[in-house]
Amino acid sequence: MTLSDAAKLLAQARHVVVFTGAGISAESGVPTFRDALTGLWSRFDAQSLATPQAFQEDPDLVWGWYEWRRRLVQQVRPHHGHLAVARMAAWAPQLTVITQNVDDLHERAGSDAPVHLHGSLFAPRCVSCLHPAPLPETVEQPGEGSRIPPPRCTLCGDLVRPGVVWFGEQLPEEALFAAAQAASRCDLLLTVGTSGLVYPAAEIPRLAARSGAAVIQVNPQATPLDPITAANLRGAAAEILPALVSAAWG
Ligand code: APR
Repeated sequence: MTLSDAAKLLAQARHVVVFTGAGISAESGVPTFRDALTGLWSRFDAQSLATPQAFQEDPDLVWGWYEWRRRLVQQVRPHHGHLAVARMAAWAPQLTVITQNVDDLHERAGSDAPVHLHGSLFAPRCVSCLHPAPLPETVEQPGEGSRIPPPRCTLCGDLVRPGVVWFGEQLPEEALFAAAQAASRCDLLLTVGTSGLVYPAAEIPRLAARSGAAVIQVNPQATPLDPITAANLRGAAAEILPALVSAAWG
């Protein structure tokens, strides 16, 4: 199926789901999870930075890593692919954006309340009472490998933690329910920049296909999602998505 065929499907769709992964952010310059474990952070592995135990044992190190990542995100911008996703809201009768990414690039591109399956770098909360915490004033970019003491909860005084899903933690129930509901009801799911390997998030495009939706993939590489797609648009999100939206809606 060509891009223009895929655009026809998109233009006719009643409920579109856009499901994104690290690839759409990588093109803006946001390091993927694995890239973020390079440089001075390379002496750590994910288990020693992205688990509740790691935070309990060394909160300053873990908070420092997430602050380093958050400030990197603040230095980059959404690209034309993010903007194309935001534009879809004006054309598709119903649009649900679901992302595995913890950055705020969809929001900054204008997408309204994307569903964050893995949480967000921009939603810190108290480790005990879960009270949402304000984002620290970002003054300068912390150095790689820097330890930063996390703020304290204004309600109970315990430590504030990053608002992301760590290894061994459940995905936020509300987000997972909203994502599954959209996937099972949509008639087209656009999967962009994800390897489709990490569950339960990776179940979302498969649920859409099982529920009868057409799945269109945007990715420069082949992925395990290839067999369930109606169209595989090989290429970069920043190039394919604007072309798809223009072909669909002019
Ligand atoms: N446009 C579209 N896709 C791209 C681009 C691009 N410019 N650049 C890379 N990709 C694709 C890669 O080919 C790859 O298939 O993006 C995908 C990124 O895959 P992963 O790094 O596995 O990211 P993701 O699928 O989002 O991983 C899911 O795993 O690392 C954890 O919690 C983290 O949310 C993440 C989860």
